Amino acid sequence: MKKSVRTLHIVAASIAAGIGFGAQAADQVNIICSVQAEWCNMIGSVYGRTTGTKVNISMKGSGEALAQIIAEKENPKTDVWFGGTGDPHLQAAEQGLTIEYKSPSLAQLHPWAQQQAQQAGYKTVGIYSGPLGFGYNTELLAKKKLPVPKSWADLLKPEYKGDIQVANPASSGTAYTMVATLVQLMGEEKAFDYLKALHRNVGQYTRSGTGPIKAVARGETAVSISFVHDAPGEKLAGFPVATSTPSEGTGAEIGSMSIIKGARNLAAAKKFYEWALTPAAQEMAAAAKQFQLPSNKNAKVDPNVPDFKSIKFINYDYAKYGASAERKRLIAKWEKEVNSLPR
Ligand code: F6P
Repeated sequence: MKKSVRTLHIVAASIAAGIGFGAQAADQVNIICSVQAEWCNMIGSVYGRTTGTKVNISMKGSGEALAQIIAEKENPKTDVWFGGTGDPHLQAAEQGLTIEYKSPSLAQLHPWAQQQAQQAGYKTVGIYSGPLGFGYNTELLAKKKLPVPKSWADLLKPEYKGDIQVANPASSGTAYTMVATLVQLMGEEKAFDYLKALHRNVGQYTRSGTGPIKAVARGETAVSISFVHDAPGEKLAGFPVATSTPSEGTGAEIGSMSIIKGARNLAAAKKFYEWALTPAAQEMAAAAKQFQLPSNKNAKVDPNVPDFKSIKFINYDYAKYGASAERKRLIAKWEKEVNSLPR
C-alpha cells in the first residue's frame, strides 16, 4: 500500500515537472536494463504511462548486456542501456558502441557522475553509485558460530569454506568490480593469489551480481560479496541480512547509462535519457527498494542508502579498469588462473 502511494507521488511529481510527456511523445524505446527487476519494471511502467511511449525492457547483467550490444553491433536492437556497473559502459564507449550525448542536466549531477561522462567522451553518464562490501545472514552466522567478516583477509578463514558466494566477473559487473578493486588494493600478483585462496571458500559463482545476496537472504549461504546497497531491500522483505565493508578499503561502482550507436529510436532514447537523470526518476529506485546513491544532487537520498562517509574507499581508477583491453585481460586471467582450479 505504502509502496503504491509513493509510486503515485512520483508519477504525479514527474507529471508536475513536465517530464518527458506531451503531444509528440515518441512511440517506442528499447532498453537493456541492468538493475534489479523491481526498478526496471517501475521505470518501464511509469515512463510508459506518463509519456505514452511503448517501453520494451530486456534485463541483463552488466557483462551480459555488453556482450549483447557487441553482438548486435551491425544491427542494433537496443536504444538505451540503463544501469549496470560503469566499467563495461566505458568499454562500450571506447569500442564506439555508444554515442556522444551531452545532457543539459549534467551540471545537476555529482562530480563522480560527470567525471564518468567526461572520461568516456560523453558516451555514457553516471546515474548512481554504490560501495562493494559483504552481505551476511545474521541467523546463519550465529547458528554456524561464524564471525562477521570485516576484512578481505577474513574471507580466507577456513571456517567460511563453501559458505561464500560471489558472482562470475565475466557476466557480472559486481564481480568485476571486486577483481579490479583487489588488483588496485594489493597489486595484481597478490590480488590473484588472494582470488585463488578465496576460490577455496567460494561455494558458488553466480551469473548475476545480486544472486549472492539473495542466497544470503534465503539462508543458502552465510556470506556474499555484494554491493552494500543491495542488502537493505532484502532486509525490508524480512530476511536476516546485514552488511559490512572491508577494513582494508573497497571500491564503488558508478552505475551508468548510455545511448546505443545506431539506435532505431534515437529521439525517444534521448527523451528517456533526460527523464532518467531527473530527481523524480532517480527517486524511483528507493520506491522500488533499490538503494544506490542517485547521481542527481537534487534527488532525495533515502535513509537506507549506504553512508559513504563511514566507508574506507580506494581511489578506484575507472578509466584504467573500464578500458577494453584491461577488462578483457583481467577476466580471462581470472577464468584461466582462478575459476579453473579445483575447490
Ligand atoms: O541492481 C543492483 C546492482 O547491484 C547494481 O547496483 C549494479 O549496477 C548491478 O546490480 C550489477 O549487476 P551485475 O553484477 O549482475 O552486472
